[in-house]
Amino acid sequence: MGVRIAGTGSHLPARIVTNDQLATWVDTSDEWIVQRTGIQSRHLLEASEIPSDMGVDAGKKALEAAHVLPEQVDLLLVATNFPDLICPGTAPFVADGLGLDSAPFFDLKAGCSGFVYGVAVANGLIESGLFPRILVIGIEALSRVTDWSDRRTCVLFGDGAGAALLEKATGPSAILGSALYGDASKSMFLNLPAGGTRLPASAETVAQGAHFLKMEGSGVFRNAAPMMETATLAALADAGLTLADVDWIIPHQANQRIIGALVRKLDVSADRVIVNLDRVANTSTASIPIALDEEIRSGKIQPGDVIVMTAFGAGVTYGAIVVRI
Ligand SMILES: CC(C)(COP(=O)(O)OP(=O)(O)OC[C@H]1O[C@@H](n2cnc3c(N)ncnc32)[C@H](O)[C@@H]1OP(=O)(O)O)[C@@H](O)C(=O)NCCC(=O)NCCS
Repeated sequence: MGVRIAGTGSHLPARIVTNDQLATWVDTSDEWIVQRTGIQSRHLLEASEIPSDMGVDAGKKALEAAHVLPEQVDLLLVATNFPDLICPGTAPFVADGLGLDSAPFFDLKAGCSGFVYGVAVANGLIESGLFPRILVIGIEALSRVTDWSDRRTCVLFGDGAGAALLEKATGPSAILGSALYGDASKSMFLNLPAGGTRLPASAETVAQGAHFLKMEGSGVFRNAAPMMETATLAALADAGLTLADVDWIIPHQANQRIIGALVRKLDVSADRVIVNLDRVANTSTASIPIALDEEIRSGKIQPGDVIVMTAFGAGVTYGAIVVRI
């Protein structure tokens, strides 16, 4: 029968920072940010807040929506690029907050494609019979790795978490197809140089700002739309469907101009593309599940709708999944 998304949830920090507020921190303007990215505001964690708590809240909401108890979860898969702690990551803190009993958990690091990768991997694990119910959560606290004095990157990002509970399908609602890719020749497009084992954190790395996210913005920009186009068409072919069968496309929320380029390449109506980056900016692994959850809860996405979710990100990774809700 396959595998379905039985429930979703999301969490955005309460603090909202507008472009005008950002313009008091760095040399930028609301006009530049809106024209170049489409972003108007973002939600950012307070210094006292813990990133994994966003995932706990999103996960609780997904379990409630799926009518699944924490002790019924067989595996927790947390997609994140910047864990609470380098070791043991983020998943154990989410498992503890959700009260997952003794279910296994692990972090999955696949750039901003992490949620798409996570759902595709979970789909295979459920189909194999190994884990009947898997909670996939994308959690990202990009504000904690952003250089707030670098206007080229700091205007792009926000914090948040989004979750989906996957289980065996009992009706038409199901994951219909997927396609995952990598291009390691572009591995330094997005990177955080220090704090890993190649360059451990030191007074020098901190002085150099090497503990902040670095980005080759134009390289990412040029490749993003073609990659999502390739993945979307391949996932649809895997599902035996065409774009005409699709009700909604949820692309990774990085930049309105990248989404516009994807819309033109696929030759679809922009009305069928879900966008929330104006309010939440780029939340990396959390971007697609937040948008999915918001529009399921708003009623825009209805049971039976076919959705393509497609992402690209650090690695570089890219991919797409096709789901009937
Ligand atoms: C980052 C990005 C918005 C930059 O847009 P762009 O149109 O390529 O702009 P450029 O980098 O060419 O910069 C143009 C000018 O604006 C300036 N600029 C950059 N950021 C600015 C900001 N926030 N405010 C004002 N000016 C800014 C630059 O310094 C540059 O000035 P210069 O010509 O005097 O040197 C764009 O490259 C992008 O979105 N890339 C993808 C990023 C992404 O999605 N990352 C996450 C992937 S998961």
